Amino acid sequence: MKTSVCIIGGGPSGLMLSQLLHLQGIETVVLERQSREYVLSRIRAGVLEHGFAELMREAQCGERMDREGEIHEGFIIAHNGRQSRVDLHKYSGGSSVVVYGQTELTRDLYEARDRMNGIVIHNAEDVQPHDLTGTPYVTYRQGDEIVRIDCDYVIGADGFHGVSRKSIPKTVLKEYEKVYPFGWLGVLSRTKPVSPELIYARHERGFALCSLRSQVLSRYYVQVPLSDSVEDWSDERFWEELKRRLPEDVAGRLITGPSIEKSIAPLRSFVAEPMRYGNLFLAGDAAHIVPPTGARGLNSAASDIYYLYHALVDHYKKGDDNGLGNYSAKALARVWKAQRFSWWMTTMLHTFPDSLPYDQKLQQTDLDYLFSSEAAQRSLAENYVGLPF
Ligand code: PHB
Repeated sequence: MKTSVCIIGGGPSGLMLSQLLHLQGIETVVLERQSREYVLSRIRAGVLEHGFAELMREAQCGERMDREGEIHEGFIIAHNGRQSRVDLHKYSGGSSVVVYGQTELTRDLYEARDRMNGIVIHNAEDVQPHDLTGTPYVTYRQGDEIVRIDCDYVIGADGFHGVSRKSIPKTVLKEYEKVYPFGWLGVLSRTKPVSPELIYARHERGFALCSLRSQVLSRYYVQVPLSDSVEDWSDERFWEELKRRLPEDVAGRLITGPSIEKSIAPLRSFVAEPMRYGNLFLAGDAAHIVPPTGARGLNSAASDIYYLYHALVDHYKKGDDNGLGNYSAKALARVWKAQRFSWWMTTMLHTFPDSLPYDQKLQQTDLDYLFSSEAAQRSLAENYVGLPF
């Protein structure tokens, strides 16, 4: 096979880039290791920043998101018996976020690719990029057959565990990592959400989050030690623990029900530099991971896709390679700001097993300062709705 851009990874980043390039007449092939059913069964986060929602519309995939997604203009932080609202709309100059599940967004992108006869190959095993500093090609195996795809560029959008980043020589790649000593236990339940806006709760027993997918589908999280497994957490134990960490009035009106999904995700901060090696460009989780506290995961991939999209269009339409040349530096500048924000939200809101009383005082002071300073709330809001691309 031959194509212009071979995209490794059929998650939201890879599909979005494929869709945007297709609309500009640039050919792509997307390779995905898993089946479509498997990709669409994974429950992921649910908050889209304004810029990502715009990209969905530009990709002609925003119709259902605009119909079914909810616009949120603020959220609550519960701390020390208080519930303080962060007014995103007021402090970000009129911006907001869209609550719409990443799983649904991925479904919309697949449907758009199908409508345009885009090539998305599932169950592609042993995917391997080759000759990245020369004329690149990618091989994969389907059953007994080895397939080769010749291309101009390879996009590594295959997540943290993917092959793309691992194809960059160790002498070139520098990795920065911080692992947190806890995870999030998440539960999805077909119940009415406890609050119309998200509630981030700081509590000495550990952090908790009340989120939602729709008015009949709730998503809740509690901070748990890394040694816990899902089997340790019956639904009953989960609801009891969640209630203990929420303000009394919120806990009092919480509607519980059977979980339809339950999983534990460890929290990690990670960046790989550079994001380009020869004709390979990394995007999204393949190059960087944030802890979920600031809702930056998918959103920090959005700017990678935006920069790559414009750089590739400039290359193919104008013969201008500046965008490709600057990609890594430009993408990393925004990536690190999302890292800083996610680390800060995580540090302020979680209970750290080895924290000093001094650290706990600082955490409380961080929150006191936040809600006493319009400048601090403005800073939170502009990061939460997403810094400009
Ligand atoms: C979610 O709804 O899954 C969610 C929302 C906000 C976060 C993280 C996860 O910060």
